[in-house]
Amino acid sequence: MYKYQIIGEKKLRGEVIISGSKNAALALLAASLLAKGKTVLHNVPDLKDIRTMLELIEELGVEYKFEKNRLELDTSIIKTHKAPYEMVKTMRASIYVLGPLLARVGKAEVSLPGGCAIGPRPVDLHIEAMKKLGAKIKINQGFINASAEKLAGTEVFLNKVSVGATANILMASVLAKGTTVIKNAALEPEIEELIHFLNKMGAKIKGENTDTLYIKGVNKLSSVKNYTVIPDRIETATLLIAAIITKSLITLKNTLAAHIHSLINILQEMGVELSVTDKKIKIKKINNLQPVYIKTLPYPGFPTDIHPLIAVLLCEVKGISVINETIFENRFGYVPELKRMGADIQIDDHIVIIRGVDHLQGATVMASDLRSGAALVLAALGAKKETLIDRIYHIDRGYEGLENKLTKLGAKIKRLNTKQY
Ligand code: UD1
Repeated sequence: MYKYQIIGEKKLRGEVIISGSKNAALALLAASLLAKGKTVLHNVPDLKDIRTMLELIEELGVEYKFEKNRLELDTSIIKTHKAPYEMVKTMRASIYVLGPLLARVGKAEVSLPGGCAIGPRPVDLHIEAMKKLGAKIKINQGFINASAEKLAGTEVFLNKVSVGATANILMASVLAKGTTVIKNAALEPEIEELIHFLNKMGAKIKGENTDTLYIKGVNKLSSVKNYTVIPDRIETATLLIAAIITKSLITLKNTLAAHIHSLINILQEMGVELSVTDKKIKIKKINNLQPVYIKTLPYPGFPTDIHPLIAVLLCEVKGISVINETIFENRFGYVPELKRMGADIQIDDHIVIIRGVDHLQGATVMASDLRSGAALVLAALGAKKETLIDRIYHIDRGYEGLENKLTKLGAKIKRLNTKQY
C-alpha cells in the first residue's frame, strides 16, 4: 500500500505532455475483439485500468505486447467467453466486453462490474439494449449470461444518456443483421473516438456528433494496424487546475482543448486568462478568482469527472460557489476529506455549496475513488504544509505517472510505502 506525501504551496513551471485517454483506450481495447488479427494502438496510457482490461482480454484469448504506450494486440483467437469476477470487480468498464463477445462468438458471461464507489451505477441499460438486439439474457450468481445466434438491428432509445451503454450497443450492433438506431446516445469524445475506430475497422456508423446514431451491420470487420488514441481530457483538467491552485503559469501540450470547452469557459468566467490553440493550453494570467455556479451534464456539458477537481479550486475562491451534480448520486467522497483540510463545504442532496476560505491546510486524508483521490492531490498542492493521502491505488487506476509529471513541474510529491512510514 502506498500513500502520497505532498508539501503544498510550491509553484509549478514549464510544460507538461498529456497522456492518451484512459476511457477512450478502454473502449478501443474492447472493440478490437470484434475482428481477427493484429491491432496496433499508439498513445495508450500505462495505468492500472488499462492493465486490468489487458488482463481481462488476455484471459479471453488475446495476446498483447505493451511498451512505451504502444500496444499490439493479437485477437485471432477467442478461447473463452467468460469474464471472471476477479478481473471485472475492480473496473466497471469491464462490461465493455459484453457487446463484442456477443457479436463475435454469440455468447458472453460477464460478471456484474464493480468500479468507483460513486453511486449504484447499474448496467440495466446495457442489458435491456442487448435484449432488444435479440440476445437472451439471464442474471445468475452475479453473472450476466448472454447468448444470441446472430444479433439483429433494432431501435434503442436510452432513457438516460449513458457513455457505457452507448459504447456497448455500438460494439454489439456493428456485426448485427440490419440497421440499429440508437436514440439519445452519448456524445462524449470517447464515443466519437470509438465510432471513428469502428468505422476504420469497416463498420458503417453514421451520426458523429449527434444523439441519433445509425449502425448498418456488416458481415466482417478487420483489425486496425495503426491508431493513435486521443488525449485524456480529465488528465488535462487535473493538471490545469493543479497549476491554477498553485497560481502557476504552465503550458499543457498534446491535449485537445475542444474536448474541455465547458471547463475552459468556467475558468475564463472565474478570471483565468488562457491562450488556447488546438493542441496546447497555456495559462497566461490568474486574476482575482470569482465564485461560479456549475451543473454537471452529459457532453458537451460540464463533465462529472471534473466536479471534484474544480470543487477544490473553488474552496479557495472568496464568495459562494455551487456545484449541482446531476450524473452520479455519490460523487462526494472528497467532501469530508476537504473539510479536514479546512474547507467550508456542504452537501445538500446532490448540490455542493462551497464558501471560499483563505487557505486549505495540510492534513492526513484518504482517497475514496479515482477523481476524489485526484481532487485531494490538487488540494494538497495548494494547501499549507504537508498532506498525506492514503489509498492512492484509486488514483493509480486513472493517471499515468501523476507524481512524475507533477515533480517535473516543480511540485513536492513523494510516493511512500506505507510499511516504510
Ligand atoms: C463513463 C466514464 C466515467 C464518467 C461517466 C459519465 C468510462 C470508462 N467511464 O462511465 O469516467 O464519469 O461515463 O461521463 O468511460 N446508468 C444507468 N444504467 C446503466 C448505465 C448507466 O442508470 O445501465 C446511469 C449511471 O448510474 C449514471 C448515468 O447513467 O447515473 C451515466 O452513466 P454512464 O454514462 O453509463 O457512465 P459510465 O459509462 O459508467
